[in-house]
Amino acid sequence: MRITIIQGSPREQANSAKVARFFKEQLDLNDAITATEFLDIRSFNFPNWGMEKASEEGLALFQSGLTDADGLLFIVPEYNGRVPGAFKNALDYFRSEYVKKPMAIATVSAGPFGGVNALYDFRDWAHYVGGILSPTKLLVSKAGSLFDDQGIPVDEHFNLNYPVFLKDFLWLTEKIAK
Ligand SMILES: Cc1cc2nc3c(=O)[nH]c(=O)nc-3n(C[C@H](O)[C@H](O)[C@H](O)COP(=O)(O)O)c2cc1C
Repeated sequence: MRITIIQGSPREQANSAKVARFFKEQLDLNDAITATEFLDIRSFNFPNWGMEKASEEGLALFQSGLTDADGLLFIVPEYNGRVPGAFKNALDYFRSEYVKKPMAIATVSAGPFGGVNALYDFRDWAHYVGGILSPTKLLVSKAGSLFDDQGIPVDEHFNLNYPVFLKDFLWLTEKIAK
């Protein structure tokens, strides 16, 4: 199975990027995964759609990351009760790539609510574009203190919930990839 991770925070110091990297490490340890791509919206820096031209090379790279994947794992923060505009803007460059694609999202917040509003926002979007969303959510709260100095997650709830989130996403992806 090939999995692509999409890191959806535009911030230089993004906590979502740390969570996304952690998931990349977990997937790399999994024998069922043959390849893991990492698409970080900060690296692509797509201009607002329609206002300037995006780099053809960047678009092609992002597009193949979406197309080649059996499943898409989104790690996205909540900004003002929704997904960040920069994340949605990057997604808007593509459309057919999402159809019938297994997806899961972990939403990230610095506060106690784990980005639950961004989760609902994303669910509407995923449904609209024809993605197939894993039934299991992951709300990552207090993201600023999730990892210790060695990058090990120290939050009890996260450590309890992330393996189930990942297992269910891979279960769905495997079913559909068959
Ligand atoms: C523009 C902006 C809006 C934000 N809005 C929310 C919000 O609605 N709810 C929330 O829990 N956190 C909000 N946050 C804080 C994020 O939860 C925090 O930055 C967290 O670390 C996840 O974002 P990051 O991956 O960019 O670091 C906001 C942060 C920014 C920069």
